[in-house]
Amino acid sequence: MQIRQTNKKFNFQKDTTFEQDIDPKQRAWIEVRGKALETNVRQLRSKLRKDCQFMAVVKADGYGHDAKVVSEYAIKGGASQLGVATLNEGIRLRSCGVKVPILILGNLYTKRDLIISFENDLMPTISSIGECLICNNIGKHFGSKFYLHLKVDTGMSRLGFECSKFVQQFEKIKSFENISIAGIYSHLSSADEINPFDSKSVTQLQRKKFQELLKKINLDKNQNIKIHLANSAGMLLNQDFHFDMVRIGLSMYGYSPLIKSEENFTLKPALFLKVKVSFIRIIDKGVSVSYGGKFVSTKKTKLAVLSIGYADGVLRNLSGKINVIHNSKLYPQVGSITMDQMMVDITGSNDIQVGSTMVLLGSEGDKTISPLHWAKESNTIPWEILCSFKNRLPRVQVD
Ligand SMILES: Cc1ncc(COP(=O)(O)O)c(C=O)c1O
Repeated sequence: MQIRQTNKKFNFQKDTTFEQDIDPKQRAWIEVRGKALETNVRQLRSKLRKDCQFMAVVKADGYGHDAKVVSEYAIKGGASQLGVATLNEGIRLRSCGVKVPILILGNLYTKRDLIISFENDLMPTISSIGECLICNNIGKHFGSKFYLHLKVDTGMSRLGFECSKFVQQFEKIKSFENISIAGIYSHLSSADEINPFDSKSVTQLQRKKFQELLKKINLDKNQNIKIHLANSAGMLLNQDFHFDMVRIGLSMYGYSPLIKSEENFTLKPALFLKVKVSFIRIIDKGVSVSYGGKFVSTKKTKLAVLSIGYADGVLRNLSGKINVIHNSKLYPQVGSITMDQMMVDITGSNDIQVGSTMVLLGSEGDKTISPLHWAKESNTIPWEILCSFKNRLPRVQVD
């Protein structure tokens, strides 16, 4: 058999154009609600003293929302600084025209990365004298100061100078002429867990340790060094955690990390996950659904097939544990979630057709499904749920 040859060259350019013609809402997509982000930042900021700054944490592509959109609306809401995890995340924001100070929360340890950070006006997090020295040399080489934040470890045991050695090390750091300390910070390990209000809790002890350290290093007020400790949970505890700046992620996206919370405002989810029904079938009683036959119908059942699966970021261990919303009614997901699709029991409905839109996360009428529900059901945390969504899901901005 002869295989027919074609002289036509595969044209990637054309192929990409073709892809762009596909309606982003044709299959499954994430709606990013800019106004909700802006309102959340505004509400959260109203809890801060006037001189306390708000750093919007937009790492991991803005917790899966799209860092560019999140940054834009967070700044509109009053965020004055941004926090990213990696060099590339920072560079992307700079290339989008973001002008506010950006702190890289992860560690840069090579000279090359630190030079790129300097060249893009990104402040690195520094955890050792060795890293300080590299930054000082870079500043000297370029003939200007390298702005950076020093991190101290008060109990997270991740990045940061050891508290017990920091006082002495700080004296040396102050002698480096080509660095400018823009901030000193630490990170809370357990503010969203157990009982952070208890004076003997890890969270309160971390705060005390941080405060004692700051007293010992005798800071020069004129240097405008920003002191910061709180993430969302720390910020919502009380003002003792606020210092000069707070670094806020989860609550800005619309979810409270606190088990017990005394908030007197409502955070608005900035992410809705939506999907189209791609097929409808009726099955008899006793028919198994999806891989492994984990669900067997107990009656004649109407099934909707939704075009979304674990390759999009809907965790497989949520199989059979979640609902979806259509016209303010909840419908249970049944059978194993597959790579690209999942089934929903829509028995009794007569308003769902192929092409209908269903809400997996978000609200419709009086029904709401939150990443907090999913996290509970899959024994994880809402941060992981938000960061699971893959690029296959187009992000569609809604104001
Ligand atoms: C150093 C640091 N600060 C702040 C945050 C924001 O935390 P949250 O999302 O709980 O507000 C994070 C997130 O992991 C972080 O790593």
